[in-house]
Amino acid sequence: MDHHCNTDRTHKYPAPPSLVELGLQDRPLPSKRLSGQDLTKLKKFRFQLLCDWLVEQFDPCRIADIGGGKGLLAYLLQKSCWQATVVDPYNQALPNKYKDLQNDRRVRIAPTERVPRLAQPFTPDLAVDFDLLLGLHAHGCNIRIIEAARDQGCDFVLLPCCVIDEPAVPPPDKHWLPWLADYARQQGFAVQHFQLNFKGQNIGLYNTGHTG
Ligand SMILES: C[S@@+](CC[C@H](N)C(=O)[O-])C[C@H]1O[C@@H](n2cnc3c(N)ncnc32)[C@H](O)[C@@H]1O
Repeated sequence: MDHHCNTDRTHKYPAPPSLVELGLQDRPLPSKRLSGQDLTKLKKFRFQLLCDWLVEQFDPCRIADIGGGKGLLAYLLQKSCWQATVVDPYNQALPNKYKDLQNDRRVRIAPTERVPRLAQPFTPDLAVDFDLLLGLHAHGCNIRIIEAARDQGCDFVLLPCCVIDEPAVPPPDKHWLPWLADYARQQGFAVQHFQLNFKGQNIGLYNTGHTG
């Protein structure tokens, strides 16, 4: 593993890997104009899409949404009987509404509603209270999440975006996403990628077991 000292704490990307390189299928190009069900409609609903994916992949468990921002993902997971806690140093209120994709309805969140929050930066010792550590565009937490999952025997799901405030950066010829996946493999995890249908960095990695 090339472990470069992160002096400027940012990283300029080479071209991202293709979906095929990550073990994901490239979407076939449509041969005709799209209509109806074929239209991609869900581009901005990342919390709803990730919640649905988690509910399909895992049984309800104690999940830390690290860098969870306003907490909508934790709120949605709670509705599916998960014990979800936001770990984020910046205390933010829940949004006052969200779109329910199943019913295509706007749902209000009352100002009195809350999700459990730890208003502090993520530290590996926190992992002891969780089964699953999740980082959705969680700044500065990706490497620590993998290491905490390794040390505490938790699972992890990461959708990394930029390399900000991480303790190490990839070498210049390596993209952050496969570098993190390789790093997790070196920590003894079997790793797979997945992709969700929202705008922005929508490719994730998660452990499917342990190899060591
Ligand atoms: C790009 S935002 C992502 C927020 C949310 N997950 C989303 O997708 O909208 C990054 C979040 O990481 C949080 N953050 C920054 N440093 C952190 C740290 N050391 N531990 C936990 N969260 C951190 C920020 O407060 C911010 O809410």
